[in-house]
Amino acid sequence: MAQHKLFLLPGDGIGTEIMAEVEKLIAHLNNTGATDFATESGLVGGSAYDVHGAAISEEDMEKALASDAVIFGAVGGPKWDNVPYEARPEAGLLRLRKDLGLFANLRPAICYRALAQASSLKPELVEGLDILIVRELTGGVYFGEPKEITELGNGQKRAVDTQVYESYEIDRIARVAFDLAMTRGKKVHSADKKNVMKSGVLWDEVVRQAASDYPEIELQHILADNAAMQLVRTPKQFDVMVTDNLFGDILSDVAAMLTGSLGMLPSASLGAPDPQTGKRKAMYEPVHGSAPDIAGKAIANPIAMIASFAMALRYSFDMIELADKVEKAISDVLDDGLRTGDIMQTGCRQVTTSEMGDAIIAKLQ
Ligand code: NAD
Ligand code: IPM
Ligand code: MN
Repeated sequence: MAQHKLFLLPGDGIGTEIMAEVEKLIAHLNNTGATDFATESGLVGGSAYDVHGAAISEEDMEKALASDAVIFGAVGGPKWDNVPYEARPEAGLLRLRKDLGLFANLRPAICYRALAQASSLKPELVEGLDILIVRELTGGVYFGEPKEITELGNGQKRAVDTQVYESYEIDRIARVAFDLAMTRGKKVHSADKKNVMKSGVLWDEVVRQAASDYPEIELQHILADNAAMQLVRTPKQFDVMVTDNLFGDILSDVAAMLTGSLGMLPSASLGAPDPQTGKRKAMYEPVHGSAPDIAGKAIANPIAMIASFAMALRYSFDMIELADKVEKAISDVLDDGLRTGDIMQTGCRQVTTSEMGDAIIAKLQ
């Protein structure tokens, strides 16, 4: 069996707590001979700043670039509120995405059978929900220049962020969405703000053009604000939604709550396939952050992190059956009534982060 190199970046806050559960899972899979992963860990975010004065060291960037996949926890927290902007914890995450070329962020929002009652929406609206948000991840207002605050000299300041998209960036993310939609419901909503933004006008034009290569896809345009509303009105109308970096960030947090908790939503961040090897650079990261309000209490939900690792098995290592098994194990423990605090329901048993991780591993045996 080929050995694969995983680079683990737990990060800050609950990042380290949920990564510990993935480490247990990797050890279990290696011990049972199901996989042969070599793991190494690094520092990112505030924990890297505390040691290196930067949100990720050059050495750890090199290791990320040399790995077969990066498994990322979460970064940030009030401790680093006043560090220089360039060294803030989130800068480490953004640099990883940019330097690894991870333009395609897949954020599946699946409502597990047992959790329909845990959603803030009526159960019938979310039962069987299976949406895939495809978020552009290396462009748009996150990275556009100029990005600055200037003194105007009259006691006033001016802040500028720049939303920039080139057609190739829109075309490649649209094709990722169409390719994935072809394996599912063949329906794609493209969300932008073409009614107020030039980047939205280009977004829509390029997405439509790319769609002409996918005659079986039913493509629908939707304004991003309406998309937010429709997600909480009738979420099951959606199959795949493709959108830009900022709208994708916000719409995926909305979608998370349909599944019961932000602690449930995994993601895969993928680069373009290498022309020689066909392999993609990839990082797997839960959608949620470092949750400073619950860090250190052993109550964080590790499911988004474990499901992100299952996405690594699926997308980086073609271990489809194993990925299915891990996802089924998650579903099974939820059916058994085990819950972390964020998804707790009456009649269920509340467990710690570590107990949830152990229960998922036990289901694999
Ligand atoms: P957050 O996602 O950390 O938390 C939002 C809420 O959801 C909190 O109440 C938190 O307790 C809860 N929550 C999140 N994940 C959970 C889990 N696994 N289990 C149970 N409850 C969970 O967002 P925030 O509070 O706005 O941000 C905190 C910090 O995290 C900020 O510094 C932010 O920049 C950073 N952040 C990082 C990432 C990332 O590393 N990918 C993502 C989002 C936010
Ligand atoms: C996410 C986060 C990040 C983003 C932050 C922490 C930079 O919110 O992954 O959703 O905005 O992309
Ligand atoms: Mn976010």
